[in-house]
Amino acid sequence: MRLIPLSNATQVGAWAARHIVKRINDFNPTADRPFVLGLPTGSTPLSTYKVLIELHKAGEVSFENVVTFNMDEYVGIDPNHPESYHTFMHTNFFNHVDIKAENINLLDGQTDDIDAHCKAYEDKIKSYGKINLFMGGVGNDGHIAFNEPASSLSSRTRIKTLTEDTRIANSRFFGGDMTQVPKYALTIGVATLLDAEEVMILIQGHNKALALQAAIEGSVNHMWTISALQLHTKAVMVADEAAQQEL
Ligand code: GLP
Repeated sequence: MRLIPLSNATQVGAWAARHIVKRINDFNPTADRPFVLGLPTGSTPLSTYKVLIELHKAGEVSFENVVTFNMDEYVGIDPNHPESYHTFMHTNFFNHVDIKAENINLLDGQTDDIDAHCKAYEDKIKSYGKINLFMGGVGNDGHIAFNEPASSLSSRTRIKTLTEDTRIANSRFFGGDMTQVPKYALTIGVATLLDAEEVMILIQGHNKALALQAAIEGSVNHMWTISALQLHTKAVMVADEAAQQEL
């Protein structure tokens, strides 16, 4: 595992965005051979998306031949809801770059057949061979995507019940009103993430310091699902100074 120790969130966003651009450009994607990028939501990747948009506008990267798969989506939420991950991705990234609509893959939190939908998502990822680079964040409790503590490390895309702590952490996006915070989410599994050619996790703030410690110094265990990345041969943790404080 590679740790990129940086000072602040701005540096994390700049490093992560430049890393993605380098990987895409080195790959030199075409319509027949697209670059497959896994993407997260949350506050943490916002600065990365901002820099990616700037680099796109500066002509340094094109997303025309990039296919994306998002990590997760709340269950029961309309895609047009202001806090859906669908809305988040379009508002903060897709609407500002040259990605083709048909190359965007997001889980549907309103599907009426969850099992079939999750299986189709996994199958679609496999149809591209593998995800070339999966970017992620981490929850305070070490969850990756919505793989809450005690998720199987062999898990695949499925429905998960959100922990009370995660719902409290995410209630800030719903005006602090817990009655509005979804109780379930569709999420890629830990094994889905481990299948990616490379995984890059962004970690910012002291709230995430125990998660980074578990990822790097702890044993592989399902109570801190981020620790599963120790099993990956190409995992990168990009952390600000506050997140490094327990190392
Ligand atoms: C949610 C998402 C995760 C994300 C986490 C942290 O739980 N499902 O993918 O990593 O939030 O979000 P933030 O970056 O806002 O702290």
